Amino acid sequence: MKTKCLYINTIGCQMNVYDSEQIAKILTPLGYKMNSSIEFADLIIVNTCAIREKAEQKVFSFLGRIAGLKRKKPGLIIGVGGCVAQQEGERILERMPHVDLIFGTHAICRLPYLIEKIEAERCSIVDVEMSEAIEEFESVIESPLDKTDPKVTSFVTIMRGCDNFCTYCVVPHVRGRETSRFPESIASEVRGLVKPGVREVTLLGQNVNSYGKKEKLASFTQLLALVNEIDGLFRIRFTTSHPKDLSDDLISAFKDLDKLCNHIHLPVQSGSNKILKKMNRKYNKELYLEKIDKLRNNCSGIAITSDIIVGFPGETRADFEETLDLIKEVEFDGIFAFKYSDRPNVPAARFANKIAEQEKKDRLQTLLNLQEYFTTKKNRALVGSNELILVEGLSKKKVDSDDTQSKCQYVQWTGRTATNKVVNFIQSEATIPRDRILKGKIVNVKIEKAYSHSLCGKPTLKGEQSYAA
Ligand code: 5AD
Ligand code: SF4
Repeated sequence: MKTKCLYINTIGCQMNVYDSEQIAKILTPLGYKMNSSIEFADLIIVNTCAIREKAEQKVFSFLGRIAGLKRKKPGLIIGVGGCVAQQEGERILERMPHVDLIFGTHAICRLPYLIEKIEAERCSIVDVEMSEAIEEFESVIESPLDKTDPKVTSFVTIMRGCDNFCTYCVVPHVRGRETSRFPESIASEVRGLVKPGVREVTLLGQNVNSYGKKEKLASFTQLLALVNEIDGLFRIRFTTSHPKDLSDDLISAFKDLDKLCNHIHLPVQSGSNKILKKMNRKYNKELYLEKIDKLRNNCSGIAITSDIIVGFPGETRADFEETLDLIKEVEFDGIFAFKYSDRPNVPAARFANKIAEQEKKDRLQTLLNLQEYFTTKKNRALVGSNELILVEGLSKKKVDSDDTQSKCQYVQWTGRTATNKVVNFIQSEATIPRDRILKGKIVNVKIEKAYSHSLCGKPTLKGEQSYAA
């Protein structure tokens, strides 16, 4: 079979990254192979994100830019998948007539059939059908894995959709109802990933805390315990947790499960109870703070990160100040902050008292400046400590070093602490023999310098003892 080039542009969250991997896998039997050069592509797929206005704009500007490629190479197939495809469907074809295929968030399993049909008939297709049957989802995951570039970390989607209907959020509309995968199938996928070298998995869901509840499969904590048993896997992470569903069981898991990393991403969205109510978050600031206390009492040193929306409709200066106060009280390790943007058909789009763009910008900047102080403070506190780093690969960034003599010969690695902080370190003869491949190993690194978004240090012991696996 002739090999054809596949180029995928992934916009958006980790779930899209995972979906793009599934797309590449499921198209392999048709002869498609991933290629990072768009000009060679026989098939271009844009995996889209609709969570905020900006992400959606990115999709259309990319589609506009590639119209010329299609004119040059008429056989080129252009497909649009993911959340914008689900949301806009047919309308994308009206705006972008050079697009051949629109496939929604539940249509990945049908991609081989859709692409073969376009190859044979040169027609355009829209498939945005949604289904709650998890079996279709599983069939994609069972396709064989490409082992040519074994990775150290991998995402594993454990559930799709969301039933929470936060008033600003488009996810329940474009990803459908919450549906969980079978625990054994998740464990088997993780085992399959560990074989070629994956050492850390991040379990993904819009609200992992409600995993398996509806289907009475297993609790999320039971799933974690199952994955924790897998030989060869070093670390487990998960995202995202909804504060209202964060159970005591899960909080205890941080202590009980040796592979579970001590980091939790717990989006608070706002520090004002009035705004939380308007967002339909179903918890208040007091409950959120109680959960933070429990997490810290149970697992000292746990890193806590969060998402915050500024400029939600009706957010007064006083409401915003309450969010700043909450940031000061919690001292998060990191925050992803966003300006509120209207999304199609969500309740908040119809709310009164929208905040002016400039005011949203100012609030975002104020918030980011405040958080920068805490992120740097937390990173600085690590200077002098020893941290176990799972090495993900060679580092692209330069770091300062006191050992200037052989600077140009340094091999510089990058990895993360269990608390999810990026650490760069140099491998030199003084520490670990230079020919030792550290990718996928856990290395004990003494932190020497802290920056706002990364750390750097030196491996602590000479030779074999300095890394655990
Ligand atoms: N506007 C701004 N931010 C949003 N998010 C979700 N919907 C919107 C919106 N309409 C943010 C939330 C969520 C993160 C993934 O994106 O903070 O946790
Ligand atoms: Fe969106 Fe809320 Fe569901 Fe998260 S929990 S995906 S913010 S509706």
